[in-house]
Amino acid sequence: MDKIVALCKRRGFVFPASEIYGGIANTYDYGHYGVLLKNNVIAQWWKAMIQDRDDIVALDSAIIQHPRTWEASGHLAGFTDPLVDCRTCKQRFRADHLQELECGRKPSVHPGEDPQCDLTEAREFNLMFETTIGPVKEAGATVYLRPETAQGIFLDFKQVLQFARRKPPFGIAQVGKSFRNEITPGNFVFRTLEFEQMEMEYFVPPDQAEYWYEHWLDERMDWYVRLGIERERLRLRAHDADELSHYSSATSDVEYLYPIGWSELEGIANRGSFDLTQHAQYSGERLEYKDPQSGETYVPHVIEPAAGVGRSLLAFLCDAYDEDEIGGERRTVLRLHPALAPVKVAVLPLLRRDGHPELARNVYEQLRRHVKAEYDDGGAIGRRYRRQDEIGTPFAVTIDHQSVEDGTVTLRDRDTLAQERVAIEGLERLLQDRLAVE
Ligand code: GAP
Repeated sequence: MDKIVALCKRRGFVFPASEIYGGIANTYDYGHYGVLLKNNVIAQWWKAMIQDRDDIVALDSAIIQHPRTWEASGHLAGFTDPLVDCRTCKQRFRADHLQELECGRKPSVHPGEDPQCDLTEAREFNLMFETTIGPVKEAGATVYLRPETAQGIFLDFKQVLQFARRKPPFGIAQVGKSFRNEITPGNFVFRTLEFEQMEMEYFVPPDQAEYWYEHWLDERMDWYVRLGIERERLRLRAHDADELSHYSSATSDVEYLYPIGWSELEGIANRGSFDLTQHAQYSGERLEYKDPQSGETYVPHVIEPAAGVGRSLLAFLCDAYDEDEIGGERRTVLRLHPALAPVKVAVLPLLRRDGHPELARNVYEQLRRHVKAEYDDGGAIGRRYRRQDEIGTPFAVTIDHQSVEDGTVTLRDRDTLAQERVAIEGLERLLQDRLAVE
């Protein structure tokens, strides 16, 4: 994990937020390559949801919803962690994670193990961030930053049913920020206070729920594998009854073998009719489906694949990270799937003279219209290759003296290190073919 964190900082993928003020707990900023990578992860998720199939529509609902939302959803009463305070060191700990935490006493021990530790009884602590609508805090309405994007989908179920002209089984997909007041140490972007979720609520006739639950387990596992993650480092783990969220009758986590061990990457839940029934009761609206042919009316059941962008990005980075040796020199390389790589091709003039930069600029202009390209003429060619390897660029095009003479370039492959001589003419088509997903 330290190596991934260091690479992310060195190359400006992800780094601690508010660093000039000493940072802020479990909060990170994404730099240039981090944004490009994150956007590619999200784009691939949208592709799998709404381009590759035609039974899912998109939504972007508000972060701050009516406060009754969270009463109905059960988050106000039940979205809590048990916390204990230490009266001696004044720190606060998750009561159910004490064995994974350090109390800060030397030699380091778990909270409660040092004779001076003085822990309170566990108290339930709500994870939702609260704020106020209106200029006067005391007189305003208390509202919450959403802890999951899913509820916005349930609130809009009726609207979408009308304008999207769908009937179950159909899904509503959404990507957006969620917020949780997490106090457990975050392990880089694995657990953060604000994070993006990629959630899809799939509404089905009740008697099909089991079938679609299995379907989405397979679909979501395949998505990660298609984008390059080794299958051996992925597994599905079904929740035990005592682990299930208040709304779920069955949940399985897609787990990835992170450097911190097997941990949740995505949750796939059978939410039954819980959410629509609750919101119908609290709002007075009928949230159900009436089959126009048979006249049958029912509350659809919901299958929900819920993934985190940060955790996906971290899994893709961990899986792609590699170190090898070229000509006795060590290199760090991100073997990212081409669809995820922030930059697809680097254009590098061998020298900063003899017409190399001018021709390289032309090639760059030609390629950038089709794929995300980067021009780099700073430093020795070996160092420039290393830089691109570290950000996971699958191809590098090098312009040399022969290029100026015969209109060919060398095309270097990040993974095989093969270098082949190819014509500048038609280079964009060649690259597009090699970068194509699947
Ligand atoms: N709507 C269901 C739901 O929110 P969840 O398992 O609590 O379920 C879904 O969250 C996914 O969101 C997780 O699998 C994880 O990828 C991501 N996630 C949850 N809490 C997170 C946090 N504090 N930081 C980063 N990602 C988080």
